Amino acid sequence: MRIRWVQLLEFRNYRTLSYSPSPKLNILSGRNAQGKTNLLEGLAVLVTGRSFRTSRLAELPRWGASSALISGEISRGEGVRTLRRTLQQGEDGTWRPSGERCEWARVIAFDWQDLVILHGAPSARRNFLDGFAGRLYASHLPGLIRYRKILARRAVLLQAGQADRLAPWDEQLAVVGTELLGRRRAAAAALQTELARVYPALAGEPKKVEIGYRASLEATEPAAFVAALERARREELRRGQTLVGPHRDDLLIELDGVDARVFGSRGQQRLLALALRLAEVLPVGEATGTPPVLLLDDALSELDPHVRANALREIQAAEQVFLTTAEPALPEIDAPRWEVREGGLVAA
Ligand SMILES: Nc1ncnc2c1ncn2[C@@H]1O[C@H](COP(=O)(O)OP(=O)(O)O)[C@@H](O)[C@H]1O
Ligand SMILES: [Mg+2]
Repeated sequence: MRIRWVQLLEFRNYRTLSYSPSPKLNILSGRNAQGKTNLLEGLAVLVTGRSFRTSRLAELPRWGASSALISGEISRGEGVRTLRRTLQQGEDGTWRPSGERCEWARVIAFDWQDLVILHGAPSARRNFLDGFAGRLYASHLPGLIRYRKILARRAVLLQAGQADRLAPWDEQLAVVGTELLGRRRAAAAALQTELARVYPALAGEPKKVEIGYRASLEATEPAAFVAALERARREELRRGQTLVGPHRDDLLIELDGVDARVFGSRGQQRLLALALRLAEVLPVGEATGTPPVLLLDDALSELDPHVRANALREIQAAEQVFLTTAEPALPEIDAPRWEVREGGLVAA
């Protein structure tokens, strides 16, 4: 898929911006704090209705504005969709979004915060996997929200010592949790296949990369999940929380058999963070029938020169890509280039 044009009105530091990008690689350069990341965010909001860096809508409209408009056109082959999204502040001060979903529109966003996938807590890896699974399966994020609501409900009952009222919630948790687990495992397997190709391609040397889903509970059937909950009952009542299930899981990432979270060098971790995002591209494209738009925030800045050349080759083989950079020139790249300056964009 590709973005044909976008218009931002009162979005972040853009009063008004019109941009018709190239169908392939777009270089967005500019000094710090000019609006490069904001522009990538605007593109994500256009395509998916959501930001990749915040869930708080109130951050998106330009400071002092009472509404923001993000509109544009995206296409997949011959199919063109016009999208119009508004953020409007209600009487009570809360922000409300409007705009329709497009079932095949996806972005994959990368920035160096993604290193947290490698050295952060298990929750960072679960969030990463859930984001990816959400791009593959439309039912994944609604399922996750449902799962979290049931966890909250169970916590209330466990803390109140009301074990006799848990049964219906155990059933629901088991059904929703088993489905969640199934989608996560399938997503991890899809990622593993692509990562095994992408990582060595970036590193420029053969490396064995493996991803393993570490489940706290090996249940493939709701009945086994319920049985595990029953076994954990006493401890759960004592602690006042659900102790088994996919909310306790982790993703193991190994380089040549060594846990990359613990032993990977800084350089290897950087490479892996970028490779994990690039590994999403093919499976997401297969799931939606069209390659996703790639939003790469400053992706080349932290890479060694040879890795950088390999990364560029991968990026140039992708469909539409937006790559920001604070470097005044990228001599090795032959692609249309725009300069972002104080919330404006000029062809460079
Ligand atoms: N809602 C907003 N309204 C106006 N300005 C904003 C808003 N949110 C962020 N900014 C400003 O936008 C500027 C550019 O941000 P950013 O896109 O992150 O820059 P960079 O080019 O370094 O990626 C910052 O100076 C920030 O203060
Ligand atoms: Mg930035």
